[in-house]
Amino acid sequence: MGSTTHTNFLDALIMFSFIFFGFSSARDTITSSQFIRDSETISSSDSVFKLGFFSPQNSTNRYVGIWYLSESDISVIWIANRNQPLLDSSGTLKISGDGNLVLLDGKNQLVWSSNVSTNMANSSTAQLLRSGNLVLQDNITGQTIWESFKHPCDAAVPTMRISANRITGEKVRFISRKSASDPSTGSFSASLERLDAPEVFFWVNGTRPLWRTGPWNGRIFIGTTMMSTGYLYGWSVGYEGNETVYLTYSFADQSAFGILSLTPIGKLRLLRYYNRKQVLDIELEISDCDVYGVCGPFGSCNTQNSPVCSCLSGYEPRNLEEWKRQNWTSGCVMKEPLKCERMRKNGSEVVAGQVQEDDGFLKLATMKVPDFAERLDVEEEQCGPQCLKNCSCLAYAFDTGIGCLYWITDLIDLQQFSSGGVDLFIRLPHSQLSIFPSCSCLETRTCYYNFLNESTF
Ligand SMILES: *[C@@H]1O[C@H](CO)[C@@H](O)[C@H](O)[C@H]1NC(C)=O
Ligand SMILES: *[C@@H]1O[C@H](CO)[C@@H](O)[C@H](O)[C@H]1NC(C)=O
Ligand SMILES: *[C@@H]1O[C@H](CO)[C@@H](O)[C@H](O)[C@H]1NC(C)=O
Ligand SMILES: *[C@@H]1O[C@H](CO)[C@@H](O)[C@H](O)[C@H]1NC(C)=O
Ligand SMILES: *[C@@H]1O[C@H](CO)[C@@H](O)[C@H](O)[C@H]1NC(C)=O
Ligand SMILES: *[C@@H]1O[C@H](CO)[C@@H](O)[C@H](O)[C@H]1NC(C)=O
Ligand SMILES: *[C@@H]1O[C@H](CO)[C@@H](O)[C@H](O)[C@H]1NC(C)=O
Ligand SMILES: *[C@@H]1O[C@H](CO)[C@@H](O)[C@H](O)[C@H]1NC(C)=O
Ligand SMILES: *[C@@H]1O[C@H](CO)[C@@H](O)[C@H](O)[C@H]1NC(C)=O
Ligand SMILES: *[C@@H]1O[C@H](CO)[C@@H](O)[C@H](O)[C@H]1NC(C)=O
Repeated sequence: MGSTTHTNFLDALIMFSFIFFGFSSARDTITSSQFIRDSETISSSDSVFKLGFFSPQNSTNRYVGIWYLSESDISVIWIANRNQPLLDSSGTLKISGDGNLVLLDGKNQLVWSSNVSTNMANSSTAQLLRSGNLVLQDNITGQTIWESFKHPCDAAVPTMRISANRITGEKVRFISRKSASDPSTGSFSASLERLDAPEVFFWVNGTRPLWRTGPWNGRIFIGTTMMSTGYLYGWSVGYEGNETVYLTYSFADQSAFGILSLTPIGKLRLLRYYNRKQVLDIELEISDCDVYGVCGPFGSCNTQNSPVCSCLSGYEPRNLEEWKRQNWTSGCVMKEPLKCERMRKNGSEVVAGQVQEDDGFLKLATMKVPDFAERLDVEEEQCGPQCLKNCSCLAYAFDTGIGCLYWITDLIDLQQFSSGGVDLFIRLPHSQLSIFPSCSCLETRTCYYNFLNESTF
């Protein structure tokens, strides 16, 4: 009995000190009256994240950032002034008169600002949430007027949304650092693209694609074997209204945490934690075949082959000399024109006195689908016949999670996997198809369809 009372008393004492210190030393807000100086920090209410000033390794520059605290390391997940470093430790982070969160130097000059236009300047409060998101809220309306999750640097954490607006084209981009000691914007970036069948693109210098994941099918990205591994579970693509598409990830287990970042040399790095202990630190390697468009238009890449590039069946190198030197940039062209192409040009089905048979589709199994897919809202049985009806349609594919995809542009960035991927059907003239068997219902070999007899499909 006595000992129970003692324990309860101790519990109460511990609880009291926890609350007491919680209020006094671990504030999670910056208000118009409470700012922070260099060497001061605020913490999320569970003390997992901190916001304050720091210097990267081998640098004396000062930056305002948010970091995640594990048992063994500190990982910076966001930086306010990545391109405007402070040169000394005289900075202050405060709420300005117009309600913005601002970083000032020792001479009270503006270094960085949340820069939201505040027409009617109300007071606001910045709070570091338990998710690691720093949100700025209008004191009167309670509305979030700015948040760090919508202005990322090089790292993503669970519940953060990598979003893109289908109407305005506005995108959240992740941009690598220049180097480990210089967090200013580097050469590599990542964003959500091709919003009708969303996928992640990795870019060099913002405009040249480095590699792409292939479209999301509700479960995985169908153009990469890396992202379907157990490392990256918990991903989902969602919609906010009908304008915004986003990609996010979360862990069902509250003890799990992850930081996904883009390294200074453009690799994807994943840090995983469990109960705040680091359990995984990997950088994903891309293969020769993952390099965007490495085999040129109508070329296909296979890491098992040497050389890795070949032309699709029915196609030949556009420039044989270049191709032989393993310069694949010019890609391939069709050996013979399609029947529909001939008819469009000549207005006749007759070629050299013979009636040409209809175009058909060659089935290529376990493929990474080409870039620039279009979507058609039809059932699986209608996907091929609809493509055949339109002479511009050069290929189609059907994935149960996405539906009917078709292509009317040069087929670029194809890859043959040894497993995974999807069946891609490429349109060819009959003469190029007849060397293959006609597909029957449960065909697994390379075979072709011509849709003349619907019941064979
Ligand atoms: C704030 O945003 C405006 C336009 O959106 C831009 O012209 C201006 O340079 C920005 N200012 C700062 C301090 O970032
Ligand atoms: C300030 O508060 C008023 C309501 O009192 C609101 O109409 C206005 O939008 C608020 N300003 C900002 C920038 O949120
Ligand atoms: C805004 O709200 C915060 C938190 O509720 C409060 O601490 C602060 O004093 C308020 N600012 C003004 C100017 O009322
Ligand atoms: C810092 O400098 C040391 C010595 O020059 C070097 O070994 C280390 O890799 C540097 N660290 C970073 C993050 O640049
Ligand atoms: C990005 O562009 C800059 C300037 O044009 C160039 O120096 C740099 O090498 C490019 N980066 C890559 C990875 O190609
Ligand atoms: C988006 O949805 C709203 C309401 O559901 C509708 O009024 C609007 O026309 C839609 N916009 C587009 C581009 O579909
Ligand atoms: C490869 O071929 C393209 C197109 O003809 C040419 O522009 C490029 O310089 C060639 N690259 C190399 C490395 O020879
Ligand atoms: C064009 O059509 C005519 C018949 O109308 C045929 O004799 C000729 O071979 C066709 N030319 C080509 C290039 O297909
Ligand atoms: C073929 O498809 C393209 C792209 O979807 C479209 O612009 C064109 O009108 C279609 N042609 C026919 C004959 O349906
Ligand atoms: C179409 O397929 C059915 C069933 O396999 C067969 O009985 C029929 O003869 C075929 N017709 C043609 C024109 O091949």
